[in-house]
Amino acid sequence: MRTQVVIIGSGPAGLLLGQLLTNAGIDNVILERSSKTHVLSRIRAGVLEEGTAQMLDEAGVGARMRQEGLPHDGFDLAFDHRRHRVDLRGLTGGKRVLVYGQTEVTHDLMDGREASGAISVYEARDVQPHDFNAANPSVTYEKDGQTHRIDCDFIAGCDGFHGVSRQAVPNNAIETFERTYPFGWLGIIADVPPVGSELIYANHPRGFALCSMRSTTRSRYYVQVAADENVEKWSDERFWDEIRLRLPRQTAEAMTTGPSIEKSIAPLRSFVAEPMRFGRLFLAGDAAHIVPPTGAKGLNLAASDVRYLFDAFREYYLENESSGLDAYSAKALARVWKAERFSWWMTSTMHRFPDQGAFGQKIQHAELDYLFQSRAALTMLAENYVGLPL
Ligand code: APR
Ligand code: PHB
Repeated sequence: MRTQVVIIGSGPAGLLLGQLLTNAGIDNVILERSSKTHVLSRIRAGVLEEGTAQMLDEAGVGARMRQEGLPHDGFDLAFDHRRHRVDLRGLTGGKRVLVYGQTEVTHDLMDGREASGAISVYEARDVQPHDFNAANPSVTYEKDGQTHRIDCDFIAGCDGFHGVSRQAVPNNAIETFERTYPFGWLGIIADVPPVGSELIYANHPRGFALCSMRSTTRSRYYVQVAADENVEKWSDERFWDEIRLRLPRQTAEAMTTGPSIEKSIAPLRSFVAEPMRFGRLFLAGDAAHIVPPTGAKGLNLAASDVRYLFDAFREYYLENESSGLDAYSAKALARVWKAERFSWWMTSTMHRFPDQGAFGQKIQHAELDYLFQSRAALTMLAENYVGLPL
């Protein structure tokens, strides 16, 4: 079999790239290790920058998002027993974000792919990229006990942090940068109305908490826990008690509780691999970088990589121009590092660190206090949160 671009991974990055390529008449095949159901069962963040939402529109899969997504003009930071609003719209000249779950984004993209008739192979085992430093790369995989091979022009590694694409690159050709944080997020979903109409990020002596939502009837809440915490130890009751302790009193009292329908702990990590191109292999999304969830940049960064990569493929195939492909890695990394900086900053500002000490805590408090005294400082937060320019 032969195609123009083999995409490894059917997460948001691979699906969005595939949809844009297909719409532009560029042939592509997606190879995914897991089943469709498994991919759809993963729960992640749910805040879309306008640039991400526009790409989903451009891909032709934005209708449900525009209908069901909740536009948010701001959010709150809570500390010192009070909530302080960050007026995203006012601070950024009219920009806002859209609250719409990543699971729904993936769903819409999968439906779009199915409607387009483009090929996706799910449960493709032992996917391996070959010869990407030569003119004729290929990808092999196993399916139903048989080995298959697809010859192609390019390989897009959209297979997430644990994928095979980055691992296929020789160690001496890649440099990685990493920070792990000494805590995780325990998150639940419950069919109760969200405590406020906007998100609340709370810094509290007992640890960070976040009140988010999936809809006006479904809440998504998180509390910071130790990195080695066991989710089994957290009954729903314990979770609700803990999150209420970390919120200002009035907010805690207004919170509706109920049975959780999902509960899990996620570690926090910052990670970047450089470069993002190796001959005819291009990395995009979590395959190349991870951000901690504070600030909700993961999916949005995957989308901006795809923006640059798709534009470069389109220029190559439709205009016979390869400079976009040559510029891809540097262009994507410049935006990636700014989102890394922002996610690290927001994580550092909002969490309790075990080794923070009294000095660290005073500095953190001064940082928060300063934000709400300085329009310049708050604008820094707002312009990063709504998404830096592409
Ligand atoms: N072969 C084929 N597919 C693979 C392989 C492999 N060896 N390894 C991983 N995959 C698949 C995974 O099963 C997953 O479906 O690649 C996909 C990668 O998807 P994500 O992890 O969602 O990564 P990405 O598309 O870059 O998404 C970026 O979405 O999922 C979030 O946390 C992520 O917010 C980030 C954003
Ligand atoms: C979420 O709704 O899951 C969410 C929202 C904002 C974040 C992280 C996660 O910063």
